[in-house]
Amino acid sequence: MLDITAALYAPAELPVEVFGLRFPNPVGLAAGLDKWAQAVPAWRALGFGFSELGGVTWHAQPGNPAPRLFRAQADEAIVNSMGFNNPGAFAIAAALARWKLEGRWPDHPVGVNLGKSKITSLKDAPEEYAATFRVLRPLMDFCVVNVSSPNTPNLRQLQDKTALDEILAALQESNTGAADIPILVKVAPDLSFLALDEILELAGPRRLAGIVATNTTITRPETEDARLRAIYARPGGLSGRPLRQRSTEVIRHLYVQSRGAWPIIGVGGIFDAADAWEKITAGASLVQIYTSLIYRGPGVVKEIVQGLRERVKQNGFQRLAQAVGTGQG
Ligand SMILES: Cc1cc2nc3c(=O)[nH]c(=O)nc-3n(C[C@H](O)[C@H](O)[C@H](O)COP(=O)(O)O)c2cc1C
Repeated sequence: MLDITAALYAPAELPVEVFGLRFPNPVGLAAGLDKWAQAVPAWRALGFGFSELGGVTWHAQPGNPAPRLFRAQADEAIVNSMGFNNPGAFAIAAALARWKLEGRWPDHPVGVNLGKSKITSLKDAPEEYAATFRVLRPLMDFCVVNVSSPNTPNLRQLQDKTALDEILAALQESNTGAADIPILVKVAPDLSFLALDEILELAGPRRLAGIVATNTTITRPETEDARLRAIYARPGGLSGRPLRQRSTEVIRHLYVQSRGAWPIIGVGGIFDAADAWEKITAGASLVQIYTSLIYRGPGVVKEIVQGLRERVKQNGFQRLAQAVGTGQG
Protein backbone atom coordinates (compact mmCIF):
# COMPACT_ATOMS: atom_id res chain seq x y z
CA MET A 1 0.00 0.00 0.00
CA LEU A 2 2.72 2.46 0.97
CA ASP A 3 4.66 1.43 -2.16
CA ILE A 4 1.76 2.64 -4.29
CA THR A 5 1.53 5.84 -2.25
CA ALA A 6 5.25 6.46 -2.76
CA ALA A 7 4.98 5.77 -6.49
CA LEU A 8 2.32 8.48 -6.71
CA TYR A 9 3.65 11.06 -4.32
CA ALA A 10 7.39 10.68 -3.71
CA PRO A 11 9.43 13.30 -5.56
CA ALA A 12 12.90 12.95 -7.07
CA GLU A 13 15.63 13.66 -4.55
CA LEU A 14 16.94 17.09 -3.65
CA PRO A 15 19.40 16.09 -0.94
CA VAL A 16 20.38 18.38 1.89
CA GLU A 17 22.87 17.78 4.69
CA VAL A 18 22.22 19.67 7.89
CA PHE A 19 23.40 19.16 11.49
CA GLY A 20 25.09 15.92 10.56
CA LEU A 21 21.95 14.35 9.07
CA ARG A 22 21.17 13.57 5.45
CA PHE A 23 17.74 14.66 4.20
CA PRO A 24 16.51 13.21 0.87
CA ASN A 25 14.72 16.52 0.28
CA PRO A 26 14.22 19.69 2.33
CA VAL A 27 10.42 19.51 2.79
CA GLY A 28 9.38 18.12 6.16
CA LEU A 29 6.19 17.38 8.05
CA ALA A 30 5.67 20.03 10.75
CA ALA A 31 4.89 19.10 14.34
CA GLY A 32 1.31 18.56 15.46
CA LEU A 33 -0.05 16.34 12.71
CA ASP A 34 1.26 13.01 13.97
CA LYS A 35 1.02 13.61 17.70
CA TRP A 36 0.77 9.87 18.41
CA ALA A 37 3.59 8.70 16.11
CA GLN A 38 0.85 6.68 14.46
CA ALA A 39 1.78 7.06 10.82
CA VAL A 40 5.59 7.17 10.86
CA PRO A 41 6.26 5.29 7.57
CA ALA A 42 3.45 7.11 5.76
CA TRP A 43 5.22 10.49 5.82
CA ARG A 44 8.14 9.19 3.81
CA ALA A 45 5.73 7.51 1.38
CA LEU A 46 4.02 10.88 0.90
CA GLY A 47 7.37 12.29 -0.19
CA PHE A 48 8.49 14.16 2.92
CA GLY A 49 12.25 14.61 3.37
CA PHE A 50 11.87 14.41 7.16
CA SER A 51 9.16 14.33 9.79
CA GLU A 52 8.67 15.93 13.19
CA LEU A 53 6.39 13.91 15.46
CA GLY A 54 4.55 15.11 18.55
CA GLY A 55 4.31 17.45 20.49
CA VAL A 56 5.01 14.97 23.19
CA THR A 57 4.74 15.72 26.90
CA TRP A 58 5.91 13.66 29.85
CA HIS A 59 2.35 12.95 31.02
CA ALA A 60 -0.43 11.64 28.83
CA GLN A 61 -3.02 14.39 28.53
CA PRO A 62 -6.29 15.00 26.69
CA GLY A 63 -5.58 18.56 25.55
CA ASN A 64 -8.23 21.26 25.51
CA PRO A 65 -11.93 20.46 25.12
CA ALA A 66 -13.18 20.10 21.52
CA PRO A 67 -14.01 21.81 19.27
CA ARG A 68 -10.42 23.02 19.10
CA LEU A 69 -9.58 23.20 15.42
CA PHE A 70 -11.24 25.57 12.96
CA ARG A 71 -10.67 26.18 9.27
CA ALA A 72 -10.58 29.79 8.16
CA GLN A 73 -11.25 28.59 4.65
CA ALA A 74 -11.27 31.83 2.69
CA ASP A 75 -7.81 32.70 4.06
CA GLU A 76 -6.46 29.13 3.80
CA ALA A 77 -5.70 29.29 7.50
CA ILE A 78 -6.37 27.24 10.63
CA VAL A 79 -6.99 28.33 14.20
CA ASN A 80 -6.20 25.58 16.70
CA SER A 81 -6.16 25.27 20.45
CA MET A 82 -5.30 21.57 20.72
CA GLY A 83 -3.19 21.96 23.88
CA PHE A 84 -0.73 19.06 23.41
CA ASN A 85 -3.21 16.19 23.33
CA ASN A 86 -0.88 13.19 23.34
CA PRO A 87 -0.37 9.81 25.00
CA GLY A 88 2.78 10.80 26.89
CA ALA A 89 6.49 10.06 26.55
CA PHE A 90 6.40 6.32 27.32
CA ALA A 91 3.56 5.58 24.89
CA ILE A 92 5.36 7.48 22.14
CA ALA A 93 8.57 5.60 22.91
CA ALA A 94 6.66 2.32 22.62
CA ALA A 95 5.13 3.39 19.29
CA LEU A 96 8.53 4.38 17.87
CA ALA A 97 10.14 1.18 19.11
CA ARG A 98 7.41 -0.81 17.40
CA TRP A 99 8.00 0.88 14.01
CA LYS A 100 11.69 0.05 14.34
CA LEU A 101 11.07 -3.52 15.42
CA GLU A 102 8.72 -4.11 12.50
CA GLY A 103 11.40 -2.84 10.12
CA ARG A 104 9.16 0.02 9.03
CA TRP A 105 11.39 2.90 10.09
CA PRO A 106 11.53 5.48 7.29
CA ASP A 107 14.76 6.32 5.46
CA HIS A 108 14.54 9.98 6.37
CA PRO A 109 15.36 11.85 9.61
CA VAL A 110 12.66 11.60 12.27
CA GLY A 111 12.48 14.28 14.95
CA VAL A 112 10.31 14.61 18.02
CA ASN A 113 8.74 17.84 19.25
CA LEU A 114 8.90 18.15 23.05
CA GLY A 115 6.32 20.09 25.03
CA LYS A 116 5.50 20.68 28.69
CA SER A 117 2.62 18.92 30.44
CA LYS A 118 -0.17 21.25 31.50
CA ILE A 119 0.06 20.18 35.14
CA THR A 120 3.81 20.77 35.39
CA SER A 121 4.94 24.12 36.78
CA LEU A 122 7.31 26.36 34.84
CA LYS A 123 9.88 25.82 37.59
CA ASP A 124 9.82 22.06 37.01
CA ALA A 125 9.88 22.41 33.23
CA PRO A 126 13.64 21.85 32.70
CA GLU A 127 13.58 18.51 34.49
CA GLU A 128 10.42 17.44 32.68
CA TYR A 129 11.76 18.29 29.22
CA ALA A 130 14.95 16.41 30.11
CA ALA A 131 13.03 13.35 31.33
CA THR A 132 10.97 13.19 28.13
CA PHE A 133 14.17 13.64 26.14
CA ARG A 134 15.93 10.77 27.92
CA VAL A 135 13.08 8.36 27.20
CA LEU A 136 12.92 9.26 23.50
CA ARG A 137 16.58 9.96 22.74
CA PRO A 138 17.46 6.46 21.45
CA LEU A 139 14.43 6.56 19.15
CA MET A 140 14.85 9.85 17.32
CA ASP A 141 17.30 11.57 14.98
CA PHE A 142 16.74 15.10 16.26
CA CYS A 143 14.71 16.90 18.85
CA VAL A 144 12.79 20.18 18.84
CA VAL A 145 12.16 22.01 22.10
CA ASN A 146 8.77 23.60 21.79
CA VAL A 147 8.45 26.62 24.05
CA SER A 148 6.28 28.50 21.59
CA SER A 149 2.86 26.85 21.53
CA PRO A 150 0.14 29.34 22.51
CA ASN A 151 -2.14 26.58 23.83
CA THR A 152 -0.47 25.62 27.11
CA PRO A 153 -0.89 28.37 29.69
CA ASN A 154 2.34 30.36 30.22
CA LEU A 155 4.43 28.02 28.05
CA ARG A 156 5.74 30.85 25.91
CA GLN A 157 7.31 32.45 28.99
CA LEU A 158 9.88 29.68 28.66
CA GLN A 159 11.26 31.53 25.63
CA ASP A 160 12.67 34.02 28.12
CA LYS A 161 16.46 33.76 28.04
CA THR A 162 17.01 32.59 31.61
CA ALA A 163 14.20 30.03 31.54
CA LEU A 164 15.24 28.66 28.17
CA ASP A 165 18.86 28.48 29.26
CA GLU A 166 17.87 26.20 32.16
CA ILE A 167 15.90 23.92 29.86
CA LEU A 168 18.71 23.67 27.33
CA ALA A 169 21.26 23.03 30.09
CA ALA A 170 19.12 20.19 31.45
CA LEU A 171 18.71 18.71 27.98
CA GLN A 172 22.40 18.86 27.11
CA GLU A 173 23.23 17.22 30.44
CA SER A 174 21.12 14.28 29.25
CA ASN A 175 22.61 14.42 25.77
CA THR A 176 25.93 12.76 26.42
CA GLY A 177 26.86 9.34 25.16
CA ALA A 178 27.82 7.73 21.92
CA ALA A 179 26.38 10.44 19.72
CA ASP A 180 24.80 13.76 20.56
CA ILE A 181 21.31 14.28 19.20
CA PRO A 182 20.84 17.62 17.43
CA ILE A 183 18.63 19.83 19.62
CA LEU A 184 16.69 22.72 18.08
CA VAL A 185 14.43 25.36 19.61
CA LYS A 186 11.11 26.30 18.02
CA VAL A 187 10.20 29.97 18.35
CA ALA A 188 6.96 31.94 18.14
CA PRO A 189 6.43 34.45 15.34
CA ASP A 190 5.18 36.91 17.96
CA LEU A 191 8.59 37.39 19.62
CA SER A 192 10.34 40.72 19.13
CA PHE A 193 13.65 40.74 17.25
CA LEU A 194 15.28 41.57 20.60
CA ALA A 195 13.85 38.42 22.20
CA LEU A 196 14.97 36.38 19.17
CA ASP A 197 18.49 37.78 19.55
CA GLU A 198 18.54 36.65 23.17
CA ILE A 199 17.66 33.13 22.09
CA LEU A 200 20.46 33.25 19.52
CA GLU A 201 22.86 34.15 22.32
CA LEU A 202 22.16 30.76 23.89
CA ALA A 203 22.82 28.82 20.70
CA GLY A 204 26.60 28.69 21.01
CA PRO A 205 26.93 28.04 24.76
CA ARG A 206 24.13 25.46 24.76
CA ARG A 207 25.25 23.78 21.53
CA LEU A 208 21.97 24.26 19.72
CA ALA A 209 21.85 22.53 16.34
CA GLY A 210 19.41 25.07 14.94
CA ILE A 211 16.17 27.01 15.22
CA VAL A 212 12.68 26.14 13.97
CA ALA A 213 10.87 29.31 12.88
CA THR A 214 7.99 29.57 13.44
CA ASN A 215 5.13 28.20 15.48
CA THR A 216 1.57 29.54 15.08
CA THR A 217 0.73 33.17 15.87
CA ILE A 218 -1.70 34.61 18.41
CA THR A 219 -2.23 37.63 16.13
CA ARG A 220 -5.06 37.73 13.58
CA PRO A 221 -5.35 39.30 10.15
CA GLU A 222 -7.78 42.13 9.51
CA THR A 223 -10.89 41.01 7.70
CA GLU A 224 -14.37 42.24 6.79
CA ASP A 225 -15.58 38.67 6.23
CA ALA A 226 -18.02 37.82 9.06
CA ARG A 227 -17.30 34.09 8.91
CA LEU A 228 -13.56 34.62 9.20
CA ARG A 229 -14.06 37.11 12.02
CA ALA A 230 -16.00 34.53 14.03
CA ILE A 231 -13.19 32.01 13.62
CA TYR A 232 -10.46 34.55 14.33
CA ALA A 233 -12.25 35.48 17.58
CA ARG A 234 -11.48 32.01 18.91
CA PRO A 235 -8.48 31.49 21.15
CA GLY A 236 -5.44 29.63 19.87
CA GLY A 237 -2.71 29.71 17.28
CA LEU A 238 -3.17 30.74 13.66
CA SER A 239 -1.36 28.86 10.89
CA GLY A 240 -1.42 28.90 7.11
CA ARG A 241 -1.32 31.69 4.55
CA PRO A 242 -1.66 34.70 6.87
CA LEU A 243 1.42 33.51 8.80
CA ARG A 244 3.72 33.36 5.77
CA GLN A 245 5.13 36.85 5.77
CA ARG A 246 5.88 37.18 9.49
CA SER A 247 7.46 33.74 9.58
CA THR A 248 9.77 34.71 6.69
CA GLU A 249 10.68 37.96 8.48
CA VAL A 250 11.67 35.99 11.57
CA ILE A 251 13.79 33.60 9.49
CA ARG A 252 15.49 36.50 7.71
CA HIS A 253 16.25 38.21 11.00
CA LEU A 254 17.66 35.05 12.60
CA TYR A 255 19.82 34.31 9.56
CA VAL A 256 21.24 37.84 9.24
CA GLN A 257 21.74 38.26 12.97
CA SER A 258 23.60 34.95 13.33
CA ARG A 259 25.40 35.34 9.97
CA GLY A 260 24.06 31.98 8.96
CA ALA A 261 25.79 30.23 11.84
CA TRP A 262 22.81 28.09 12.81
CA PRO A 263 20.62 26.12 10.42
CA ILE A 264 17.02 27.28 10.38
CA ILE A 265 13.96 25.14 9.65
CA GLY A 266 11.48 27.52 8.04
CA VAL A 267 7.78 26.89 8.65
CA GLY A 268 4.65 29.01 8.35
CA GLY A 269 2.31 29.44 5.42
CA ILE A 270 4.24 27.47 2.80
CA PHE A 271 1.78 26.40 0.07
CA ASP A 272 3.95 26.08 -3.02
CA ALA A 273 7.52 26.09 -4.29
CA ALA A 274 7.62 29.90 -4.47
CA ASP A 275 6.77 30.10 -0.75
CA ALA A 276 9.41 27.49 0.09
CA TRP A 277 12.00 29.28 -2.05
CA GLU A 278 11.17 32.53 -0.21
CA LYS A 279 11.94 30.84 3.12
CA ILE A 280 15.15 29.24 1.82
CA THR A 281 16.54 32.41 0.26
CA ALA A 282 15.63 34.24 3.50
CA GLY A 283 17.89 31.78 5.35
CA ALA A 284 16.11 28.47 5.92
CA SER A 285 18.09 25.28 5.20
CA LEU A 286 14.98 23.11 5.48
CA VAL A 287 11.24 23.83 5.44
CA GLN A 288 8.12 22.24 6.92
CA ILE A 289 4.42 22.28 6.13
CA TYR A 290 1.21 21.53 7.97
CA THR A 291 -1.72 23.71 6.88
CA SER A 292 -1.09 23.44 3.13
CA LEU A 293 -1.23 19.67 3.44
CA ILE A 294 -4.76 20.08 4.84
CA TYR A 295 -5.92 22.46 2.10
CA ARG A 296 -4.04 21.07 -0.89
CA GLY A 297 -3.72 17.37 -0.10
CA PRO A 298 -0.67 15.14 -0.23
CA GLY A 299 0.39 16.12 -3.78
CA VAL A 300 1.72 19.37 -2.33
CA VAL A 301 4.99 17.79 -1.13
CA LYS A 302 6.07 16.55 -4.56
CA GLU A 303 4.98 19.82 -6.16
CA ILE A 304 7.13 21.86 -3.77
CA VAL A 305 10.20 19.62 -4.10
CA GLN A 306 9.99 19.60 -7.90
CA GLY A 307 9.57 23.38 -7.98
CA LEU A 308 12.63 23.73 -5.75
CA ARG A 309 14.66 21.41 -8.01
CA GLU A 310 13.79 23.63 -10.97
CA ARG A 311 14.75 26.79 -9.11
CA VAL A 312 18.09 25.33 -8.05
CA LYS A 313 18.84 24.53 -11.70
CA GLN A 314 17.57 27.88 -13.04
CA ASN A 315 19.85 29.73 -10.65
CA GLY A 316 22.88 27.72 -11.73
CA PHE A 317 23.32 26.07 -8.34
CA GLN A 318 24.49 22.49 -7.88
CA ARG A 319 22.91 22.07 -4.47
CA LEU A 320 20.02 23.65 -2.58
CA ALA A 321 22.41 24.73 0.18
CA GLN A 322 23.87 27.30 -2.21
CA ALA A 323 20.52 29.12 -2.27
CA VAL A 324 20.21 29.46 1.50
CA GLY A 325 20.20 33.11 2.56
CA THR A 326 20.87 34.48 -0.94
CA GLY A 327 17.76 36.66 -0.86
CA GLN A 328 19.05 39.12 1.74
CA GLY A 329 19.00 42.85 1.21
C1 LIG B 1 -3.61 21.51 14.65
C2 LIG B 1 -2.19 21.94 14.83
C3 LIG B 1 -1.42 21.38 15.85
C4 LIG B 1 -0.09 21.77 16.05
N1 LIG B 1 0.65 21.18 17.05
C5 LIG B 1 1.94 21.55 17.23
C6 LIG B 1 2.73 20.95 18.24
O1 LIG B 1 2.30 20.03 18.94
N2 LIG B 1 4.01 21.39 18.40
C7 LIG B 1 4.53 22.41 17.62
O2 LIG B 1 5.69 22.79 17.80
N3 LIG B 1 3.81 22.96 16.64
C8 LIG B 1 2.54 22.57 16.42
N4 LIG B 1 1.81 23.16 15.41
C9 LIG B 1 2.43 24.23 14.58
C10 LIG B 1 2.99 23.70 13.26
O3 LIG B 1 4.02 22.75 13.49
C11 LIG B 1 3.54 24.87 12.42
O4 LIG B 1 4.61 25.48 13.12
C12 LIG B 1 2.49 25.92 12.11
O5 LIG B 1 1.25 25.33 11.84
C13 LIG B 1 2.88 26.80 10.92
O6 LIG B 1 3.03 26.06 9.73
P1 LIG B 1 1.86 25.96 8.61
O7 LIG B 1 1.45 27.38 8.28
O8 LIG B 1 2.51 25.23 7.46
O9 LIG B 1 0.76 25.18 9.21
C14 LIG B 1 0.49 22.77 15.19
C15 LIG B 1 -0.28 23.31 14.16
C16 LIG B 1 -1.60 22.92 13.96
C17 LIG B 1 -2.39 23.55 12.84
